[in-house]
Amino acid sequence: MSTLLHIDSSPLGEASISRQLTRTFVQEWKQSHPDGKVITRDLTLSNLKPIDAEWIGASYTPVDAHTPGQKDVLALSDALIAELEAADEYVFGVPMHNFSVPSTLKLWIDQIARAGKTFSYSSSGPAGLLKNKKATFIVASGAMYNTGAPLEAFNFVEPYLRTAFGFIGVTDIVFINAGGAAAIQSGKIDRAAFLLPHVDSIRAAVIAAELQPA
Ligand SMILES: Cc1cc2nc3c(=O)[nH]c(=O)nc-3n(C[C@H](O)[C@H](O)[C@H](O)COP(=O)(O)O)c2cc1C
Repeated sequence: MSTLLHIDSSPLGEASISRQLTRTFVQEWKQSHPDGKVITRDLTLSNLKPIDAEWIGASYTPVDAHTPGQKDVLALSDALIAELEAADEYVFGVPMHNFSVPSTLKLWIDQIARAGKTFSYSSSGPAGLLKNKKATFIVASGAMYNTGAPLEAFNFVEPYLRTAFGFIGVTDIVFINAGGAAAIQSGKIDRAAFLLPHVDSIRAAVIAAELQPA
């Protein structure tokens, strides 16, 4: 049985483009994995806080030496990492905010990047500890950042996510970019017409993943 971890980070609820597209991904995925399990994590409801000195101290203390207080400090991080470990596949809804990922997603990454849990240091350098995972990032942005576009170099979402996830061992990554959403607000295109090609890309991505040898 496969498990999908579905993570959303847009603060815009029903109005969110990325949330609508991850919902489509989940529907498609369920169709091709009728026995599959979906874990849902909404980062806007997850009480994520910036990591502080206490958190960093606890995270670099060996697990068997944790005090009850340190266990409490790391409880959310442990739960988020357990979700990553339990799933075979991940889908993320990512609204571009100020050329990068939304702050909730950065806070989540700070919680799950843990030495000894999701990466390790060795004499040959850092090594990711998550194995055989696949991630799809559905990125919504007001402008276009595709290859050759004038704003291409302003896209810090994709390089950052590739690096951060590569660091923890997730290198099988697909990006589905729903760029140009500002055209909906300015009335140049209606929402359904804007979403249509991205819905098609999501269907194609789910089918392509299905056809990949395990
Ligand atoms: C706080 C904020 C910052 C944004 N920054 C950018 C940006 O840097 N570049 C861009 O193209 N669009 C930007 N946008 C537009 C969003 O990326 C766009 O509305 C997208 O649809 C957001 O995804 P969502 O609908 O899932 O929330 C920004 C929107 C907000 C609310």
